[in-house]
Amino acid sequence: MKGIVLAGGSGTRLRPLTGALSKQLLPVYDKPMIYYPLSVLMLAGIRDIQIISAKDHLEMFRALLGDGSQLGIRLSYAQQEEPHGIAEAFLIGEEHIGDSPVALILGDNVFHGPGFSQLIAQAAARLDGCELFGYPVKDPQRYGVGEIDADGSLLSLVEKPVKPRSNLAVTGLYLYDNDVVDIARRLTPSARGELEITDVNRVYLAQGRARLNPLGRGFAWLDMGTHDSLLQAGQYVQLLEQRQGERIACVEEIALRTGFISPEQCFALGSDLGASSYGDYVREIARRAAAEGRTADSSAA
Ligand code: G1P
Repeated sequence: MKGIVLAGGSGTRLRPLTGALSKQLLPVYDKPMIYYPLSVLMLAGIRDIQIISAKDHLEMFRALLGDGSQLGIRLSYAQQEEPHGIAEAFLIGEEHIGDSPVALILGDNVFHGPGFSQLIAQAAARLDGCELFGYPVKDPQRYGVGEIDADGSLLSLVEKPVKPRSNLAVTGLYLYDNDVVDIARRLTPSARGELEITDVNRVYLAQGRARLNPLGRGFAWLDMGTHDSLLQAGQYVQLLEQRQGERIACVEEIALRTGFISPEQCFALGSDLGASSYGDYVREIARRAAAEGRTADSSAA
């Protein structure tokens, strides 16, 4: 399965923070925002990932993450000229997707909770059409909203409904089979001038091939569209990391634990991170993994 992180948009609601910087590079406590969605794709075992962003921002992402080889993954970059909607990612990323299934994640979404990687792995294994992830919210009018029956089949799906039929927001992580490219090609822009991801999902819904996996209580899904939600996400990460002593969305740690890199490679990444507490953490987990005799899983390459 291929991966796409959509890190476009001009971040108008976060100005002046985004005056000279991509929204998805802003700090969420101890790391840039894009580490969070990138870590979700890596946890799903995806190693071939395209980052889509505005022209002015692509170089910054490249400076941060390079070609991904240091993490045992392959990163490519593509440009979204203007923000024409989430579903445009499949047109921009067509060549990258090739004839594979694809996981798309929005660059400003944080997912955190027990059993998440297993949940994605299960969804990917049974993928026939699309697998979506729903999260109960207080203000469903702001999102795509899904209504499900007892076994998770989608009954209805509406973008920003005035009268929502459920409180389940469709989150910014989407798994699709390869038909998605054709479906995206046939879309027409919505009233707000965008190729809507909800319109893609509705095609699958009409075919009876869309599932919405509910993310339950105790799970955190945060999107960072405002100054308050950005700060809250940072505080959430700070609280858990300080309490447990484990980092959330530490891409070096995930690369190590999924076997994408060896403890020695991980230690070298920690050394590059210098004297920061994040660097200390990466070196420490590398040391521990070396003591346990871990090796990189070259078969997964
Ligand atoms: C977009 C989607 C919406 C989804 C949301 C998740 O909303 O259109 O269906 O629930 O992302 O973050 P937008 O950011 O375009 O308002």
